[in-house]
Amino acid sequence: MTKAYEIEDHVYDAIVVGAGGAGLRAAMGIAESGLKTACITKVFPTRSHTVAAQGGIAASLGNMGPDKWQWHMYDTVKGSDWLGDQDAIEYMVRQAPEAVYELEHFGVPFSRTEEGRIYQRPFGGMTTEFGEGPAAQRTCAAADRTGHAMLHSLYQQSLKYDTDFYVEYFAIDLIMEDGECRGVIALDMNTGKLHRFRAHSTTLATGGYGRAYFSATSAHTCTGDGGGMVQRAGLPMQDLEFVQFHPTGIYGAGVLITEGARGEGGYLVNSKGERFMERYAPSAKDLASRDVVSRSMSYEIREGRGVGEHGDHIFLHLDHLDAETLASRLPGISESAKIFAGVDVNKEPIPVLPTVHYNMGGIPTNYHGEVLNPSEDDPDRIVPGLMAIGEAACVSVHGANRLGSNSLIDLVVFGRAAAQRVADVVTAGAPHAKLSESHADMALGRLDRLRYADGELSTAEIRDKMQRTMQANCAVFRTEEVLEEGKVKIDEIAGLLPDIKTFDRSLVWNSDLIEAMELENLMGQAQVTMHCAANRKESRGAHMHEDYPDRNDDDWMKHTVAHLNDNKVEISYRPVHDYTLTDEVEYIKPKPRVY
Ligand code: FUM
Repeated sequence: MTKAYEIEDHVYDAIVVGAGGAGLRAAMGIAESGLKTACITKVFPTRSHTVAAQGGIAASLGNMGPDKWQWHMYDTVKGSDWLGDQDAIEYMVRQAPEAVYELEHFGVPFSRTEEGRIYQRPFGGMTTEFGEGPAAQRTCAAADRTGHAMLHSLYQQSLKYDTDFYVEYFAIDLIMEDGECRGVIALDMNTGKLHRFRAHSTTLATGGYGRAYFSATSAHTCTGDGGGMVQRAGLPMQDLEFVQFHPTGIYGAGVLITEGARGEGGYLVNSKGERFMERYAPSAKDLASRDVVSRSMSYEIREGRGVGEHGDHIFLHLDHLDAETLASRLPGISESAKIFAGVDVNKEPIPVLPTVHYNMGGIPTNYHGEVLNPSEDDPDRIVPGLMAIGEAACVSVHGANRLGSNSLIDLVVFGRAAAQRVADVVTAGAPHAKLSESHADMALGRLDRLRYADGELSTAEIRDKMQRTMQANCAVFRTEEVLEEGKVKIDEIAGLLPDIKTFDRSLVWNSDLIEAMELENLMGQAQVTMHCAANRKESRGAHMHEDYPDRNDDDWMKHTVAHLNDNKVEISYRPVHDYTLTDEVEYIKPKPRVY
């Protein structure tokens, strides 16, 4: 197979696939440790989806009032609906302040308090005194363009280190030999040339698969490419049934309006002008956690109190805030509201609707970023040579529901942790084992199959069916009937892939081919999401199963582990870590989750 294509060889100690916040932080750290490092990315680094993160990054700096990492830990565990691994959560929240100061020193232009400290705003589910005190102002913000500021600073910093960037290279598949990862095969989209990257460590930082849905705040590039490669390598994905709907996507456009808008005092109303969140979350109100707010909005719409001609959305009011706050703290969303909804936020409410935003599930890892392939004997068994971080991974700090602003901190904390692990286990310049004759067969077979695909259906037609099915059958509210129907439909749609037709046989800037590969990556994760949702007979976090409306810790406090084999989803479970990292904090026992 390899003979049919000319492949250029690259030999590295370590590679990172993806150049968003997590990928850049990992690549920097690995290069800094003296290892020969490459970063392979399908878009220019500063176009990675981290750029779209708005409201901020969570860390208990205590700049705006008392705060401590123990409270951040409590909120994160509660936000996760007790599906998060508490050792990983402890690790993240303890590292968070240092990680934010590091970003400050990297040049992130954080907004400032009068005293010149980093400005922090309230975000959903973030409290003081273990949920008993007032809301915490914990989310460090650069106006409402925090991800943009972070990504640009991280990219600038990464240029200081000796990382080789391979930009606009699409990773087709992993090189797996004897259960170990030895690198990737990638396509340089600019020249159409194939490249073999050999490495002792491969870190996947490829983001989520939000584009499996019809309406998502995620960029069109969020196609779960790392997850797709992992599935084709016969490795499992974890907890994919937990898909976060952000309460405030702009109605009709799906564009994000940051939770920071409610953090600054914005509020939601129904068609009767009621601030309905007061009924659903009497204490936190509009700043309850995202699953709670999205469900409450959906209830209001379902019960006939939605706004607009079709009564199918909700209004977000910012028009009572002073113009100076809007201009200095929320300039980006003020512009988005104007462009995508024709609304002047100083005068009118923004029409909003819960919109797919984040995948809590992903490639299972431990808190070092090492990918896991759990077995019955060893639920924490690692895959040698393979790491995953950021939204591509499920570490699992977000469990069944992520708190807003915990994703940016996840990126940098675990990006750095992964770099430290790679530095510990890889020896600079160590020789690479000989590869088998068949090492590239999976990647090249895939490339050939899609490049010459001559079926009846375009990528766009199949993608549209997948996205509409996910949106209709695996959304905010789920029932047995809808999920069972969804399983049949999504499997049938996945069964259409062999009938795909691509129109361009060249390898140079062939977006048709790249989109077909992206669709395959999305499809496997869509199937697993639907099947795992149907299998989980309880409600927890973002998974609201109306036939099983309660959380059931006795039977379901466990991570879903799912393989995709021959288009069939095979599901097993592994225990949630019910222990902390150190004895400086106790395991937080489950209790009812009210806001
Ligand atoms: O609402 C937001 O600004 C999004 C932040 C996040 O998802 O963490």
